[in-house]
Amino acid sequence: MLGTDLRDELTSLGERVITLSRAELDVTDSRAVNAAIAEHKPSIIINCAAYTKVDLAEQEEALANAINGSSVELLADAANAVDALLVQVSTDFVFDGEQRTPYEVTDATNPLSAYGRSKFLGEVAAAHAHKHLIVRTSWLFGVHGPNFVEAIRNQIRKGTNPLRVVNDQHGRPTYTPHLASAIVRLARIANESDVARGVVHYADADACSWFDFARAIVEGSGIDVQPVSSDEFPRPAKRPAYSVLSTERYERLTGVKPASWREGLAEYLERRT
Ligand SMILES: NC(=O)c1ccc[n+]([C@@H]2O[C@H](COP(=O)([O-])OP(=O)(O)OC[C@H]3O[C@@H](n4cnc5c(N)ncnc54)[C@H](OP(=O)(O)O)[C@@H]3O)[C@@H](O)[C@H]2O)c1
Repeated sequence: MLGTDLRDELTSLGERVITLSRAELDVTDSRAVNAAIAEHKPSIIINCAAYTKVDLAEQEEALANAINGSSVELLADAANAVDALLVQVSTDFVFDGEQRTPYEVTDATNPLSAYGRSKFLGEVAAAHAHKHLIVRTSWLFGVHGPNFVEAIRNQIRKGTNPLRVVNDQHGRPTYTPHLASAIVRLARIANESDVARGVVHYADADACSWFDFARAIVEGSGIDVQPVSSDEFPRPAKRPAYSVLSTERYERLTGVKPASWREGLAEYLERRT
């Protein structure tokens, strides 16, 4: 989902971009990673590959760790070999959600789920790259993959009315083309200057609950959305109740305010039929 939007963003900016699908490069294969990086000698490597099945990861933690953790070590070593900047995409799920003020890049991590732990391993591994940028983001939706917006629209297509959606988890939905622009902006700065490296948060404005997000998705459709608590939808992986990311460092580094998820949603609904 993110990788496709990043390719489009870079192409539209006239950057030379090489994209490798899973079939072309399995990031857990050290020889293949070294060969690909040695062949293309990129100045920037953006890792969009990930194990993203949050609930299944509870049963497949070793696989999640291999894809989200160990493979990032391979990428970090390969990046060092060609002096490239490694950009690793991470998640709000590295936090436990106990705070009630937005998470800063310096706040302590404490993942609640196997997926969150695997992504945290990826952050630690990415830091082995001499030049690295770790972009934490949250609640992604984009036209090239399954996501919450599509899940709600699928419920509408099935005729579910009313919809019942959790109102006790808060975060910042993020439209993947907005994230793609933010990553490119950050990577360009971080490639030039080490003060812009390390961990940065990017998420669209503003924070809301899944219930608020669902209401915006169904707006104008006549569908009723009812707020419920997470206890009514038990799932294998525990989610943080509050994972609002502060984008203060992003704004300071780039001088740009995050885009609005509501604008992203309007564009999404226009593009994805
Ligand atoms: N989605 C969210 O709400 C969210 C929120 C916060 C952070 N993130 C992070 O944002 C990033 C992008 O997420 P996304 O939603 O765009 O993910 P996605 O659509 O699931 O894309 C991940 C891609 O990685 C590929 N992949 C899996 N294992 C691989 C391997 N061993 N080698 C090479 N490629 C492999 C997948 O291929 P297959 O499809 O063939 O498996 C898929 O194309 C990830 O780092 C994710 O953790 C996502």
